Amino acid sequence: MRILVTGGAGFIGTNLVRSLLEQGHEVIVLDNLITGHVKNVLPFIANPRFTFIEKDIINPFVSAKNEILTVDQIYHLACPTGVNNLGSLAEEMLLTCAIGTKNVLELAKVHKTRFLFTSSSEVYGDPEVSPQKEEYTGNVDPTGFRSPYEEGKRFAESLIISYVRKYNLDATIVRVFNTYGPQMSPKDTRVIPRLLRLALTKKPLTIHGKGLQRRTFCYVDDFVKGLILVMGKGKKGQVYNLGSESEFSIIELAQIILEMTKTKSTFKFTKRPAHDHQMRLPALEKIKKLGWRPKTSLKEGLKKTINLQTESASLVHKDSMGKKEEKWQQYPAF
Ligand SMILES: NC(=O)c1ccc[n+]([C@@H]2O[C@H](COP(=O)([O-])OP(=O)(O)OC[C@H]3O[C@@H](n4cnc5c(N)ncnc54)[C@H](O)[C@@H]3O)[C@@H](O)[C@H]2O)c1
Repeated sequence: MRILVTGGAGFIGTNLVRSLLEQGHEVIVLDNLITGHVKNVLPFIANPRFTFIEKDIINPFVSAKNEILTVDQIYHLACPTGVNNLGSLAEEMLLTCAIGTKNVLELAKVHKTRFLFTSSSEVYGDPEVSPQKEEYTGNVDPTGFRSPYEEGKRFAESLIISYVRKYNLDATIVRVFNTYGPQMSPKDTRVIPRLLRLALTKKPLTIHGKGLQRRTFCYVDDFVKGLILVMGKGKKGQVYNLGSESEFSIIELAQIILEMTKTKSTFKFTKRPAHDHQMRLPALEKIKKLGWRPKTSLKEGLKKTINLQTESASLVHKDSMGKKEEKWQQYPAF
């Protein structure tokens, strides 16, 4: 099959592209590299079944009928991520989710392409129920600090469902819960890469509040299998949560990271940001009915991440040290 992946030079995108190429597909990546990196796709460049196009999806496609974009499936992942980017890239988040999604939807409409969008658990905002089922409508502040990402994803979901209803587009939505693994950017401030980076460089692990916020963490290999499964078997117009159902508090996670990295770093407790969500736990009944289950335990996944990531040295990237690192520590778990 010929498959388009927007945002394919990012963390999840790179892992997805590798799997798709291994399965024998032809893959085209569109990415403007705003939070992704060209080094992520370099290992694929020599593959004749791989094409990389540097493009901002906010800008119109010259022609939706462009032959190179005539594909059988579209994974629409492109979106700037990271709590540290919520201020500086707020507009880009909103416009990528709105105008960018509209542009990609038009491609899918013209070619009658199967379409999958990676939304986020953040559409539930600071949830008042646990676990969060797909029917839960969320608790989101439309002008809050996290709103560029939360409302951007909510708008994109609404637009996609409009295309399903109006144009009968064969589209499905995946709500992504925290996912981690190799290939995360050295500048990534999400909780696992941030704490791993601090532990591996023997710095105190910053914990917001008492670290009692609860999260789940899905290893990227399990996640990519789920994504491909939903693309294959997910029903048109349906939404699927995808993530792990094992909950950990941030302090438990930090303790596991210290144990696994065998470092003697200490904890540094900081004031908890007002917008830091208390919990996030996916109800997975819907996706389990398709035959998916997360298989990798947190310890196994962290071990693989530490081994693979330190091999490529990207967790201890020089740019992520010093002043910038201190600034990033003020941001909560994404
Ligand atoms: N990793 C997680 O835990 C998580 C959680 C919830 C949702 N998600 C969603 O999954 C998707 C992939 O996330 P990720 O973790 O790989 O993030 P990432 O930041 O590593 O990847 C996103 C990619 O999209 C690209 N991009 C952003 N705006 C673009 C634009 N206008 N045009 C073209 N390319 C653009 C970036 O350069 C980057 O390569 C995103 O949609 C994200 O919102 C991820």
